Amino acid sequence: MNGVSAFVTEWNLIKSTKDLNKEITNLQAPVKIAPDQHQVKKINRLEVKDLALQFKNGEYLSYPDFTVKQGEKILLTGDSGTGKSTLFKLILGKLTPSQGEINFFDHNGQKLNFDLDELGYIAQDNTLFPDTIANNVTMFNSALNNQISGVLDQVGFTKDLDKMSAGLNSQIDLDKGNLSGGQRQKLVLARALIHQSPWLLIDEGTSAIDSAGTKQVLQNLLNTPSTVIMIAHNYSTELVSMFDRQIKLTNRGDAD
Ligand SMILES: Nc1ncnc2c1ncn2[C@@H]1O[C@H](COP(=O)(O)OP(=O)(O)OP(=O)(O)O)[C@@H](O)[C@H]1O
Ligand SMILES: [Mg+2]
Repeated sequence: MNGVSAFVTEWNLIKSTKDLNKEITNLQAPVKIAPDQHQVKKINRLEVKDLALQFKNGEYLSYPDFTVKQGEKILLTGDSGTGKSTLFKLILGKLTPSQGEINFFDHNGQKLNFDLDELGYIAQDNTLFPDTIANNVTMFNSALNNQISGVLDQVGFTKDLDKMSAGLNSQIDLDKGNLSGGQRQKLVLARALIHQSPWLLIDEGTSAIDSAGTKQVLQNLLNTPSTVIMIAHNYSTELVSMFDRQIKLTNRGDAD
C-alpha cells in the first residue's frame, strides 16, 4: 500500500509539472523586436569643422574643414609636424579638440554616437607582438585562419614567408628584430585587410616598403569597399593618382 501511494503521489507530481511545462511553453512568445533596433548604425560620412588643438606646451594646430564619404580613398599629406598623426588621434577620440567638431553621420544624415568598432587604425609606430605571424595577423581570431595566406599575398609578404622555415607559425622576435621595417608594415597592413574595418585610418603604413611593393599594397587596399584615409609622405604621382583625392595639411587652417 505504501508503495502504491508513493507511486500515485510521484505520478501526480509528474503530471502536474507536465501541465506546468505545457503552460510555460504556451506562454513563451517570441519577443517582438523593432526592425531597426539591432541594426548597427553605419558611418556614412565624417565631417571635420573648425577643428583646432592647443597642446599644453602652447603648440597650436588648426585644420581645414573637410568631409569624407563612405568608400572614399583619401591621401592625407603635409609636411612633417603639420598635425597628420594628431588628426587621426582626434578622429579616434584619443585627443579632445580645443575648438571645433568631428562628427559622424549615418546615411539618413543622423548624427551618430562615436563608435570605435567601425574604425580601424594603423599607428605610425606599428604594433606587432611576440607571437606567431598568424596570430599577429588574425589577432587570435582563429575564424580568420583560412584567410591569412590570401591577405599576406595581397600585401606582398608571400616571398618573405617562403624564407621562414616555420611559415605562418614563425615566431616574431621583437628584440632580435627578425623582421625588417617593411616586413613589419606588411604584416600590420595584412591585419587591417583581414579585419575589414569599414573605415581605415593608416598612418605611414608603407613608408618602409619599396615602391613596387607599395603599389601592390595600394592596389589591393584601395580596391576594398572600406573608406581609407592614408597618411603618406613622398608618394610618386602614379601612387597619388590611385586615390580619389588628396587632403594636404598646412597647419594654417586651410587646405591646399
Ligand atoms: N602631446 C604633444 N604635446 C605637444 N606637442 C605635440 C604633442 N603631440 C604632437 N605635438 C606637436 O604637434 C605637431 C604635429 O605633430 P604630428 O605628430 O601630428 O605631426 P605629423 O604631421 O604626423 O608629422 P610626421 O609627418 O613627422 O609624422 C608637432 O609639432 C608636434 O611636436
Ligand atoms: Mg605623423
